[in-house]
Amino acid sequence: MPVVTEIHVNGVRHSLRADGEQPLLNVLRDDLGLTGTKFGCGEGQCGACTVLVDGVPIRSCHTPVGSIGPQQVTTIEGLEKDGQLHPLQQAFLDAGAMQCAYCTSGMIMSGVVLLTKNPHPTDEEIVGFMDGNICRCGVYQRIQNAIKQAAKVMAGGQP
Ligand code: FES
Ligand code: FES
Repeated sequence: MPVVTEIHVNGVRHSLRADGEQPLLNVLRDDLGLTGTKFGCGEGQCGACTVLVDGVPIRSCHTPVGSIGPQQVTTIEGLEKDGQLHPLQQAFLDAGAMQCAYCTSGMIMSGVVLLTKNPHPTDEEIVGFMDGNICRCGVYQRIQNAIKQAAKVMAGGQP
């Protein structure tokens, strides 16, 4: 795969020089300093490294940076707008939906996609959609509560 010389992340074009076979995760963390995205299993199994590529959630530990091309990458750092956290980021804080927080950015990225596709998910739909994101601390109930709280806020209701 050819050398990558530019990548678009969180609305910013970055110049770099990276082996196209390198995982996107390494480039985000090591070249761009975006350390919010975490390395968990490194095998595409846990979801800790989830980012969005043109709005689609992908495992950045398993995605060669050379496959991204001109597509827009969004990381956890890109969810905040004008100094305001995304409602799901705020809901995770409000609901205390983390313990070690290692899974949190991947959970939030997947949760944002869920709420985009389905603004009013049921408990079963949340569990089904978030199935690929693993929380080793087991705070699943609080994560589910945070997603429901964010859904309410995004619909214009009170948290
Ligand atoms: S670190 Fe990528 S899926 Fe686990
Ligand atoms: S909060 Fe520790 S892995 Fe989820």
